[in-house]
Order: sequence, then structure tokens, then C-alpha cells
Amino acid sequence: MDNTNLIIERDKRYILGTYAAHDIVFEKGEGCMLYDTEGKEYLDFLSGIAVACLGHNNKKLVAAIKKQAQKLMIASNYFYTQPRGLLAEKLLKGSHFSKVFFTNSGAESNEAALKAAKKYFNQFHPQRYKIVTCLNSFHGRTIATVTATGQEKYYKPFSPMPDWFIYVPFNDKEALRKALSDKEVGAFMVECVQGEGGVVPASEDYLSYARKLTKKNDQLLIIDEVQTGIMRTGKMFAYQHYGIKPDIVTIAKGLGGGFPIGACLLTDKVANVMKVGDHGTTFGSNPLACHAALTVIKELKKKSMREHIQNISVYFFNKLKTFEKYPFIKEIRGKGLMAGLEFDDKYQVKEIVKALLDKGLVASMAGQNTLRLLPPLIVNQKEIDQMGEILETVLKELNQ
Ligand SMILES: Cc1ncc(COP(=O)(O)O)c(C=O)c1O
Repeated sequence: MDNTNLIIERDKRYILGTYAAHDIVFEKGEGCMLYDTEGKEYLDFLSGIAVACLGHNNKKLVAAIKKQAQKLMIASNYFYTQPRGLLAEKLLKGSHFSKVFFTNSGAESNEAALKAAKKYFNQFHPQRYKIVTCLNSFHGRTIATVTATGQEKYYKPFSPMPDWFIYVPFNDKEALRKALSDKEVGAFMVECVQGEGGVVPASEDYLSYARKLTKKNDQLLIIDEVQTGIMRTGKMFAYQHYGIKPDIVTIAKGLGGGFPIGACLLTDKVANVMKVGDHGTTFGSNPLACHAALTVIKELKKKSMREHIQNISVYFFNKLKTFEKYPFIKEIRGKGLMAGLEFDDKYQVKEIVKALLDKGLVASMAGQNTLRLLPPLIVNQKEIDQMGEILETVLKELNQ
């Protein structure tokens, strides 16, 4: 193993400088713990940004990947392989969706959704081409998804951008009603909890209002569950908290538990417009990723696991509530095992993240000065207590 500095310097020399990474080299992980090349251990309350839902080095997931890798990793979408169909069946059965398109990332899942929506407009409402999204949203980094992302800082450097996105303030029903009354608008794409935007949940009636309006005009409701999906908020999909049935849902992150895979789930009426040749991917649907995801879904669908997530979420938020005593914490938000602590602007969350790392807790910043916590879904009370102790130490110092 090369030493830490050499690894960092090599990266800095050769890797495109699009990230401001911390000077830490992670070498291995176990459960909710990460270990760096200096032998220091960290509690992982980021999970690779809502990915490692079963924690690190999960025995069943590792064994599934190993077994499938030895059998067959890729065959191409010109042929059938068993894991793809099994995963699709597991995801769709019992839901109102009828078809799935597998991808390799969240952005690609959203691209698939946008293409299917566009094809739907062209077929049934040719005058429609615009899509409404929310300010402060995040939908990915491809040209279309970065434009869908309602944050100028992400798309402005690449302008001119596609001109078919309209942005509305999140949780503002009147603004949504106005935007959807545009005859050229065909869809509304939204997150149930804005993740990158600072862990901001949709208000109780916002999504049902959106569903009611879009249904009335045969506009499509696309829910981006790339961060919130796969039990992150305590249900398989976060839209289930809101009692709605979207036309399209996109997922990725937690689906493979660390193995790259995403998916776009479609109801019959949208799925029917997509024909042979309309979309494709070389890697999407490969048996290795599908077998990994199948293992993840099987684990998460277990009654014991669902109960664990529900109970531990209550414990997690009760613990976080104890930090309300600090006047510089403006709000504590979230759902399930997705939490955000918004700080007063006088305090830099970037610096708080660094202080937490120093003390062995991995977390991240999201949105406007919000500390985001996304532990693996297997996290236990002891680990939450440990997180609480580290956070308490750092916030106490801040309060002095
Ligand atoms: C809600 C949401 N959509 C899409 C994406 C993009 O996913 P990916 O980075 O896998 O392309 C993200 C990533 O953070 C996300 O949080």
C-alpha cells in the first residue's frame, strides 16, 4: 500500500479537479465504520451519499457479487439474463408500476425518465415540451438533468442550456398551479425530500396537490427518488408517505448498496410509448449489478429490517432533537434515516464537517449551511449515541 500523501498527490495530478476532497484516504469499511490509511477509524454517517444502505462489507452482498462475478458479469442487452428479470419482478410486484429500465446512476435514471416523458408528449400532446422542476432541486450532472436541477450554480457555467425547464419554488402550491397551467408544460419532476438542496421534505399536501393537478391535465408526475428511495426515508419509496401514485419514479444510490445501478420505473401508459431502439445502455441491466441489487432489496424487504429502520429512525431523530438547545441550530429536518441540521449563517457547516472528521465522524454539507447525516440503514443505537457524543463535543466548542 502506498503512503497516504503519495495516494493523494497522485490523484491530484491525474484526476480531473471537479471535487474538493478531504485529505483522507479510506482503505476499508465494516458495518457503519470506515478506516483510513493512517489506521484511524470513523463512524460513517454519509454512506457514500446515501448508498451503502447495508453498511460496508455486508457478507450477503459481497457473497452475491462474488458469486455472480464468477458466473457472468456482462452479456449485453441483446440477450436475456436471469438477475435482471428477478430484480425487476422484485421491484415492481405489488406496486402500480409495470415496467423498469435499469441504468448505472441517478442522472441516467432521470435521463430515461425525461426521454420517456418527451416521447409521451410527442405522441399524445404534441404542443407540450416543457417540464417544471423546483428551485433548489438536484437531478444530476448530464446536460438535461443539470438543467432540470433548479440551482444556477450547477448549470450556468455550461450555458446555453436546453430551454424546456421551468423552475418553481419548492412547496409553493400557487406557483406550481400557475406553472402547470402553461399549455406547453407536460410534466412536473420533483424530489419528496430535497437532498442536495439541504434535506427539505415536501410539505404534507404539496405532492398530493401536484398529483391532483397533473392528473387533471394528463401531465406526468415524475418523482426523483435517487436519494430518498430504497428505504432511506423508512419506506421503499418516499412518495408512499404522501399517498400518491406518480407516473414515473427514478432510483439509484441505495439500490446496489454500493454497486452502481439505477432504475427508472414507469406506469403502463408511459411505458407503452417506448419502443425498440428508443433508449439503451451498454452497462445498464448487467447481471452483476442486478444480482447485487436483488440481494439489497431482499434484505431491505425483510420484516425485521423494515421494523428496525422505523424504530431506529425514531431514536435517531430523538437524539438529534437534543441539539435544539443550541441557538445556532435553526432547524432539524428529515425523514427516516435522512437528516439535516440547518445552522445559523454565522457558522460555516463546511468547518463543522471538518471538525467532525477530525473527531472520527463522516458527514457532509448540503444546501444552505445544512449538516446532512445519512447513516447506513443498519445503524444501531450505540452508533447513534457515538455520533451524538462527537456532535456534542464539536457543537459545545462552537458554543464557547
Ligand atoms: C435526487 C437526486 N437525483 C439525482 C442525482 C444524481 O445521481 P448520480 O450522481 O448517481 O448521477 C442525485 C445525486 O445526488 C440526487 O440526490
